[in-house]
Amino acid sequence: MTPTHFTKNIATLATKLLRKLPPEIAHNLAGYALKKNIVPFKINKNIFLDGIDLTSKLSDKITLSHPLGLAAGFDKNAQFLPGLSRLAFSFIEVGAATPLPQEGNQSPRIFRYPNKKALINRMGFNNVGIEKINNHLIDFFKTEQHNQPVGINIGVNKTTPLEKALDDYLIVLKTTTQKISYYSINLSSPNTESLKFLCHPLVVKSLADRIKTETTVPLSKVWIKLGPNLEKMFFQSLVRSVFESKFAGLILTNTLPVKEPEVGGLSGLPLLEKSERALEWAWEVHEGLVPMIAVGGISNGKDLYERIRRGATLAQIYTAFIYEGPFVVESILKEFSEILKSKNISNLDELRGSYYS
Ligand SMILES: Cc1cc2nc3c(=O)[nH]c(=O)nc-3n(C[C@H](O)[C@H](O)[C@H](O)COP(=O)(O)O)c2cc1C
Repeated sequence: MTPTHFTKNIATLATKLLRKLPPEIAHNLAGYALKKNIVPFKINKNIFLDGIDLTSKLSDKITLSHPLGLAAGFDKNAQFLPGLSRLAFSFIEVGAATPLPQEGNQSPRIFRYPNKKALINRMGFNNVGIEKINNHLIDFFKTEQHNQPVGINIGVNKTTPLEKALDDYLIVLKTTTQKISYYSINLSSPNTESLKFLCHPLVVKSLADRIKTETTVPLSKVWIKLGPNLEKMFFQSLVRSVFESKFAGLILTNTLPVKEPEVGGLSGLPLLEKSERALEWAWEVHEGLVPMIAVGGISNGKDLYERIRRGATLAQIYTAFIYEGPFVVESILKEFSEILKSKNISNLDELRGSYYS
């Protein structure tokens, strides 16, 4: 059923009510509705506006109807896909998945800052472990609701010693169904101590070598997700390493580590500038040769326009989905299409990277 005014009003009201509850309870309630598919409408993701073509490539083989997907961390256990698949995202990233189940940090571990359109979280990779997550994916992929590519974000278990940390990525890569469209290696969560050491050009290279020799997963399906807090030279050496190792691309960026007003990773509007700048720094290195998924503070059509102009192939949102609710994809894409129309841009290849010319 296409959404009517009435269902839209109900959904907006539900989003407002959820925001009155503590963040994790709201998340679990919304998750329950998505898991049980209690979503009384389906938003069309094939959105074209007056001849504007929003199609975008996730890979040589996968073309998406538009560039906007859901970022990692919302559906940690791949259980909300039945409902999420109705909300017009062109692709969905589940996880982070770790080899073993783990509870994550103690609650409260997610905090809202509505005036700043921001969140801080220190979830700590709470998830049911890759075996169960993989079963959820296999079950979902059998259903008719599976109508957009799904990727999986991979983390490291808290108890894994640093010298074995790369094994964790390989275990998840080897365990996950090949029907998964892509993998995203999380080298950037602020809430897991060992990632600070793993985020290094030599580790990126060694990970690529091990994926090639120890798994059947092609590197063209594996993306690397970096943080927004790295010093420019170091960040660019990481980008070079991702480029030379022939990974699929870069996901820029994860949350920003902060100590105040809560310890954790900051997302949403305050992250916008840093995430946008990460695209510029990366472009200086690869000049468009490495695909980039932009994430961090995107909440409207102009934000999406600026990211693609700075070379992003695709984009993702998380915090804007929390604050704006289920119609956020539609509203971002409408505004984005109107900007393109006003500038006489008819497809995204014309826009991509134009900031630099
Ligand atoms: C509660 C929460 C949990 C998250 N968990 C993960 C995660 O498990 N893995 C990951 O790579 N990113 C995770 N992220 C980061 C998001 O995927 C995204 O990179 C970040 O929030 C910036 O985008 P946004 O400003 O649109 O929220 C999480 C973010 C939030 C708010």
